[in-house]
Amino acid sequence: MKVRVIGGGPAGLFAALLLKRQDPKHDVHVYERNRLEETFGFGVVFSDAAEQALAARDPEITEAMATLSHRWDSIEIHHAGTRFTSTGHAFSGLSRKTLLRVLADRCGALGVGLCFQRDVQDPAAVIAEADLVIAADGANSVVRERYREEFRPSVEVRPNKFVWLGTSKPFPAFTFYFKTDRHGLWRVHAYQYEPGFSTFIVEAREETWRGAGMDRAGEAQTIAFCERLFQEELQGHRLVSNRSIWRSFPTIRNERWHHGNIVLLGDAAHTAHFSVGSGTKLAMEDAVALTEALSRDHGLETALQAYEEARRPPVESLQRAAQASLQWFEDTERYVKLPPIQFAFALLTRSLRVTHENLKARDPAFVAKVDTWFAEEAAKRSGVRLSLSPPPPPMFTPFRLRDLTLMNRVAVSPMCQYSAGDGTPGDWHLVHLGARAMGGAGLVFAEMTNVSAEARISPGCTGLYKPEHAAAWKRIVEFVHGNTAAKIAIQLGHAGRKGSTRLSWDGDSEPLPSGNWPILGPSAIPYYPHSQVPKEMTRVDMDAAIRDYVRAAKLALEAGFDLLEIHMAHGYLLASFISPVTNTRRDEYGGALENRMRFPLEVFDAVRAAWPQEKPMSVRISATDWVPGGMEPADSVEVARMLKAHQCDIVDVSAGQTVPDQKPVYGRLFQTPFADRIRHEVGIATMAVGNISSYADVNTILASGRADLCLLARAHLWDPYWTRHAAHELGYKLEWPDPYESLDTYKPRFT
Ligand SMILES: Cc1cc2nc3c(=O)[nH]c(=O)nc-3n(C[C@H](O)[C@H](O)[C@H](O)COP(=O)(O)OP(=O)(O)OC[C@H]3O[C@@H](n4cnc5c(N)ncnc54)[C@H](O)[C@@H]3O)c2cc1C
Ligand SMILES: Cc1cc2nc3c(=O)[nH]c(=O)nc-3n(C[C@H](O)[C@H](O)[C@H](O)COP(=O)(O)O)c2cc1C
Repeated sequence: MKVRVIGGGPAGLFAALLLKRQDPKHDVHVYERNRLEETFGFGVVFSDAAEQALAARDPEITEAMATLSHRWDSIEIHHAGTRFTSTGHAFSGLSRKTLLRVLADRCGALGVGLCFQRDVQDPAAVIAEADLVIAADGANSVVRERYREEFRPSVEVRPNKFVWLGTSKPFPAFTFYFKTDRHGLWRVHAYQYEPGFSTFIVEAREETWRGAGMDRAGEAQTIAFCERLFQEELQGHRLVSNRSIWRSFPTIRNERWHHGNIVLLGDAAHTAHFSVGSGTKLAMEDAVALTEALSRDHGLETALQAYEEARRPPVESLQRAAQASLQWFEDTERYVKLPPIQFAFALLTRSLRVTHENLKARDPAFVAKVDTWFAEEAAKRSGVRLSLSPPPPPMFTPFRLRDLTLMNRVAVSPMCQYSAGDGTPGDWHLVHLGARAMGGAGLVFAEMTNVSAEARISPGCTGLYKPEHAAAWKRIVEFVHGNTAAKIAIQLGHAGRKGSTRLSWDGDSEPLPSGNWPILGPSAIPYYPHSQVPKEMTRVDMDAAIRDYVRAAKLALEAGFDLLEIHMAHGYLLASFISPVTNTRRDEYGGALENRMRFPLEVFDAVRAAWPQEKPMSVRISATDWVPGGMEPADSVEVARMLKAHQCDIVDVSAGQTVPDQKPVYGRLFQTPFADRIRHEVGIATMAVGNISSYADVNTILASGRADLCLLARAHLWDPYWTRHAAHELGYKLEWPDPYESLDTYKPRFT
């Protein structure tokens, strides 16, 4: 096979080497526009595991990488005059020049044709002469751009500016510095890649970078500025440049990675932010997968398809982690005020790949420090005495809002059961909520409970609009209070334009076939084209709805609920006032966000006045509508600010369900970043919800300060005893209800 490789970076050289090694008859040539020694940058870093997996593909590479790599095990975080060290991370660094030289030498020895200083500007000629063209020409790939119709690339240029420098200072650990000068916050990612040489990447927000004049700086001025700024950290060592220009990181994705006889490898196909240090590893793993696919001899098209199928899942997974990581570095200004230990923990867990749990396996002493600090804070704020030897896991620390103290940070998220008769909860609700309270959660939310019969989503929804409703709820509340340590919350709602619909299992949000009741909204916009058109609410309608909310709040008090949540999410009445896609009013209740919030805040104020001062209130919001022109995360920060000004105690941060054509970006913890942002930018407590299902994630969210409580919905449908199972696995003793205490009495029989 005649193979032409465009680009002599790690992807191109490794692919050339592996292909030639696989079959010496292959005619393999690499076209590289620069000379070998002319490459950009300094060192690259691999995790030990990644390096070993790659090196094992070629014993000579294994040996070379093993001797030439510099190894370390710790991460050091310098912030606000403090230094935290976390161990157990096993990395190795290697000079990029050395890596390329090793790969090139091996290519030469195997008979690969290396054509340096050959700049391929017209890939068509190369494509015509070869059986296979490997486009490994990096992030600015000429080949990808020439065939962009086929590859359909997306290049998302990130806002921060960074420069890749080197220094003679030998950093003993992977080192992060965070330093503020009069222009703003500067971040440094530094690591040693060979004895006496380190990579030193400086990163800042664009306004900070411009403020310091770096937009006009050449390499010499950049070095002079950075040496001055990091004089103390560099301890007399100099910075050096190597084509070190300030850049913005491009996140690159392609809809297809192959076309005809061309295949994209490495940065040409995908990039992963340097803060997860995996671009070179991904590039080289691509080369391994391509060689494997070609070895199966099922024809070129099948092989290229197999390569793409094999590589997409791990690449996309790493890109998701890299995205979370780069966002953390873009948002670091938000976190710098955190206590240094929490800042360090948040940094280490930023990509979601490292959790409280696996960090504990790597560095138990560091996690014990974090847990002790977290528990001490929780004890101070809640007034609950805690035993700190050992400290409880973050999820088992108390949390206080007004006079309500929760014994742990896990909550059962509100879940409609569509099983009430005329709004009255029955035995189903008693068992459903009772079981989950017995399951150990600190707080159990009852479902969205409607403030009038017309406010219901469906005929099966619960209500609080008749005295008998309060009595039925009281039975449930008393069971929870009388038999478990859990507290119980009510979520008050009004379905608005999403009302008068079927039970969810008969057609979610679909209008009732018969027996509909009139529905209300801020504007006369139906949910589906075939849904009932809501009446645009008049002032009289608003006053009536406020009265309904207040009546429901008083009934909730009679029932004995501990916390009252107002539902302002998911496209129901109050949410539909807040979102510009469902509220097109021209009066003082439409238009700007302040106007759209006016009626929801009137409701909130009226309920707050009726709900006792000592009992807390929360509000659930949709932080984004997931549609263009809808609510964006930045808007939800303003919503939370207004809620805080109206004495809301905690914001329950959900997302979407405003319109049926939403395009949510699902994934693990997909809504947690919204809770995180609100918590830090507004300074209000938050609850995170959405695809949280492991105790490792709950502990990570809490300890890193992304939220104060974690709500789990579907995980609690699977397992009402979710919290007890977590306690058991974490070795934490959670009190049993009295009738189950005998579990411990009988323990010896089972051991
Ligand atoms: C600041 C920074 C820090 C990084 N840190 C790390 C790290 O610690 N660990 C890590 O694994 N990765 C890191 N990376 C990423 C890493 O550098 C890349 O992901 C990796 O180099 C990708 O390899 P590649 O072979 O696909 O592309 P490249 O290394 O970019 O190689 C492409 C090659 O193609 C050549 N070329 C381009 N166009 C043509 C043409 N038209 N004709 C001929 N030749 C051409 C170029 O000269 C170049 O040699 C970092 C990146 C940056 C920007
Ligand atoms: C059966 C079911 C009913 C739900 N009912 C409500 C509800 O009454 N009020 C509400 O705010 N969210 C409701 N939700 C959304 C959940 O509270 C939660 O936000 C969502 O399921 C995401 O969390 P999860 O990934 O842990 O399931 C419901 C979810 C489910 C699965």
